[in-house]
Amino acid sequence: MTAQDSELVHRSPGEDGRTYGFGIVGCGVIAPTHAEAISRLDNARLVAVCDMNEEAARSFGTEWNCDYVTDVADLVARDDIDVCNILVPSGLHAKLGIQAAQAGKHVICTKPIDITLEAIDALIAAGEENGVKIGATHQFRGFPVYERIKQAVEEGRFGELLYGNAFVPWYRSDEYYARGWQGTKALDGGGALMNQSVHYIDLLLWIMGEVASVCGFADNLAHDIEVEDCGTAALKFTNGAQGLIQGTTCTYQGQPARLEIHGTKGNVMVVADEIALWEVEGDERVFNPEAGMVMTGASDPKGGMQESAVVAHVKEIGDMLAAIEEDREPVLNAREARRAVEVILAIYESSEKGEVVRL
Ligand SMILES: NC(=O)c1ccc[n+]([C@@H]2O[C@H](COP(=O)([O-])OP(=O)(O)OC[C@H]3O[C@@H](n4cnc5c(N)ncnc54)[C@H](O)[C@@H]3O)[C@@H](O)[C@H]2O)c1
Repeated sequence: MTAQDSELVHRSPGEDGRTYGFGIVGCGVIAPTHAEAISRLDNARLVAVCDMNEEAARSFGTEWNCDYVTDVADLVARDDIDVCNILVPSGLHAKLGIQAAQAGKHVICTKPIDITLEAIDALIAAGEENGVKIGATHQFRGFPVYERIKQAVEEGRFGELLYGNAFVPWYRSDEYYARGWQGTKALDGGGALMNQSVHYIDLLLWIMGEVASVCGFADNLAHDIEVEDCGTAALKFTNGAQGLIQGTTCTYQGQPARLEIHGTKGNVMVVADEIALWEVEGDERVFNPEAGMVMTGASDPKGGMQESAVVAHVKEIGDMLAAIEEDREPVLNAREARRAVEVILAIYESSEKGEVVRL
C-alpha cells in the first residue's frame, strides 16, 4: 500500500449528489460512535437500526431519529439501506455480515472483523459473490499521530526497521466481564489480545508490515473468564525486524497503551496516543514526559463517545462510500482487518503448543 493509499479521506457527497442509507446492527456501546460518524458525512444517512433486544433497538432508534427493528432480516430487506454496520458481539460479525452481503448490502464490521479465519474468509467470499464491499473499522489508524508515523516509515525516514512494539496494559473489572459475551470463547474469541489489544496489534502490523513468525503466551491470571487476560508475544516481521506485544486487562488501575517503533534512523514512542518521543534524523527532537498522563477512552470501557474516535470513524466510513463510488476496495478492507486476527490466533496457537508458529 502506498502512502497515498493509506490516507483515509473524508469524502463529501458523490458527484451525483447521492446519499447512502445506513443500517446499524447492534445498538450497544460502540453504536453511538458509528451513528455520530454517519451523521457527520454529507452523503450518509442513518435509516434504521436493529437489535435483538427490543428496548435497546427502540431507545437507540428514538435517540437517532430513525426506524428500528429486532430482526436483521427485516433490516437487510430494506431498499433504502446501502451499507450495514455490524456492531454485535465479535463472534457474530461474519454471520450477520454475510446475511447483509447476501441481501446486496455493503458491510462495515467493527473490530475485530471476526474471531476465526474461517468466518472472515467466508465473509470475504460472500462480499465477492454478491458484488459488495466488505470493510472494517480500526479507528486508531485514523488518529493523526499514527498517520504521521505510517507516512514517515513509508518514506523510509526511520531507516531500516529494527523493532515494533505494542504494549496494552489496560484494566477491565469483573463487572465488565459479567455483562455477557465479553470473555467468552464463543463470542469474544479471546480476551485481552482479541478484544482490547487488537487495536494496537492492527496498528503495529499496518506500520511494520507482515509477520513471519510468532512466539506467544496467553494465560488467564486474574479474571474468572474462559480466555486470556494476559498475553505476550515476540514477533519476527518478514522485513527482518523484531517486535513485542503485551496485552492485558489486569493491571492495577489500568495503564496507558504504548507503541514504539525503532529504526536505524529514528525512534518514536507513543503513550496513550500522544507522542512521548519523536527522534528522527533531520527532525527536531520532541520529548514529552507528560504524554499518557490522561487515559484515553479506549482504556476505559465506560468512556462513552470519544471525539477522536468519531473523527476517525468518519474517515473510515467515508472511505467506504468513496470505495463504492470508485469501485475499489476500501482502504481498511476485510483482508487488511484479517491480519491482526491471524497474528492473535497464532499467539494462541504458539502458547498452546509451546512452539514458534510460522505464518
Ligand atoms: N472500535 C471500538 O473502539 C470498539 C469499542 C467497543 C466495542 N467494539 C466492538 O463492537 C462490538 C460490540 O461491542 P459492544 O461493546 O458495543 O457490545 P454490547 O454488548 O454493548 O452491544 C452489542 C449489542 O448487540 C446486540 N445483539 C447481539 N446479537 C444480536 C443479533 N443476532 N442481532 C441483533 N442484535 C444483536 C445485543 O443485544 C447488544 O445490544 C464488538 O465486536 C466489540 O469488539 C469496538
